Amino acid sequence: MKKIFLFVFLFLFTLHKVTSFSQRTYHVYIASALPENPSVKLNFHCQSKDDDLGNHELLPGQNWSFKFHENFIRSTLFYCDFEWDGKQKTFNVFDDSIACIKQAKGDQTDTCYWLVKSDGFYLAYKVNPPSWALTKYYDW
Ligand SMILES: *[C@@H]1O[C@H](CO)[C@@H](O)[C@H](O)[C@H]1NC(C)=O
Repeated sequence: MKKIFLFVFLFLFTLHKVTSFSQRTYHVYIASALPENPSVKLNFHCQSKDDDLGNHELLPGQNWSFKFHENFIRSTLFYCDFEWDGKQKTFNVFDDSIACIKQAKGDQTDTCYWLVKSDGFYLAYKVNPPSWALTKYYDW
């Protein structure tokens, strides 16, 4: 009997170690670098299959962020719907556990920094990135 308990304990302990080891915390930022004039708010709504992160709005220069643990099979996907100045765009802000989005070619990151400009959406792997670290992926 004791042996069975020990075995079960070791099994659960190992399972816990393996799953927590493979869990990484990711931060996704949405930052507005939209022009001050016209001072129209950026409205957006982000969600995954399991989480609805609600409606948010940003003035030029403001930012918002969320964090999450990647699930065990690494299939987490968050998408956002953006609206600004009569324009609308929806795309995945996170669908890849290495480079934030599948079409990006980056090294392992845990920071996805999306900068919204009047000509489109730029991704960087650190907060407040220099302009050379930004890559544009979507137009409005
Ligand atoms: C977000 O905004 C705050 C307040 O303006 C600023 O201090 C911070 O550096 C910004 N962070 C990012 C990641 O842009």
